[in-house]
Amino acid sequence: MRVFVDCDPGIDDAVALAYLAARDEVEIVGVGAVFGNNSVDVTADNALRLLDLYGRPGVPVAVGAGRPLVQEPRLAEHVHGGNGLGDVELPAPSGKPVRESAAELLVNLVRAAPGEIDVLAVGPLTNLAIAIGLEPELPRLVRRLVVMGGAVRAPGNVSSHAEANINNDPEAAEAVFAAGFDLDLVALDITMETVATPEWLAALKEVPGERAERTSAFLDFYSDFYAGLFGVRQCAMHDPLAAAVLVDPHLVTGAYETPLRVELSGGLTRGMTVADLRPRPARDERRPARVITGVAEEEFLGRMLDALR
Ligand code: BDR
Ligand code: CA
Repeated sequence: MRVFVDCDPGIDDAVALAYLAARDEVEIVGVGAVFGNNSVDVTADNALRLLDLYGRPGVPVAVGAGRPLVQEPRLAEHVHGGNGLGDVELPAPSGKPVRESAAELLVNLVRAAPGEIDVLAVGPLTNLAIAIGLEPELPRLVRRLVVMGGAVRAPGNVSSHAEANINNDPEAAEAVFAAGFDLDLVALDITMETVATPEWLAALKEVPGERAERTSAFLDFYSDFYAGLFGVRQCAMHDPLAAAVLVDPHLVTGAYETPLRVELSGGLTRGMTVADLRPRPARDERRPARVITGVAEEEFLGRMLDALR
């Protein structure tokens, strides 16, 4: 399968790239970088370094949006470190970003292979919204879109109701949800339930080799942050779980379909991902997304460890 990854690496973005890179059947056709966990220059540079680390040098990496469509950017150095990778220094990248923007790269790739490319979006959705502006047929040209983002029934993580990727660019997310993609949503509803346990993190420390060692060092920083939330040293694996839903759909054990919207104006709820969950929802022209509610956790954790071996 052919996959375009739009991301803001980012520690869990790194593990998502590792998950995909470890799979021979996955061709990573391009990577778009976006602001989010850090500035876009840093996330693009990290994407290049990570592709080297995980054995996929030469994948085109494009610099994308440096800021949201409307609001001011907010970064997450307290979660991902000053360099976006837990302050772990990786060797300088072997390549440079391509000339095209992330949105242009995505549009060019899917125009050349209509209906053949899946998109994994694990950062703010700004690049995708810009790409829809460039090519309104994007939702038909992309085969399947898996988004890590949102909190539908679960609480938010950057405010009571909003999740970081959606909240970092609510207008962009709303444009993507409205566009009519074949869309799977991997929201906090499932990512906060399917975590890298203390045992899994300990098992990773036993895996020899540079990939596992570096990734374990990223996750040391990340689990320091998450220990404050969970009360134990474990961490959410938001972005790799979305990668798994894309490439290993048999891991999905539960999902429901609903049209999604993003609250753009609420003083308390701006950035909230809204579904009409009433037994008899209002009529809605919007194409429903599939919200993932269950995954085979043990197999996911095993596959994530295998990816880092
Ligand atoms: C999402 O926000 C980012 O910090 C993570 O990389 C993930 O994509 C989780 O809310
Ligand atoms: Ca991310």
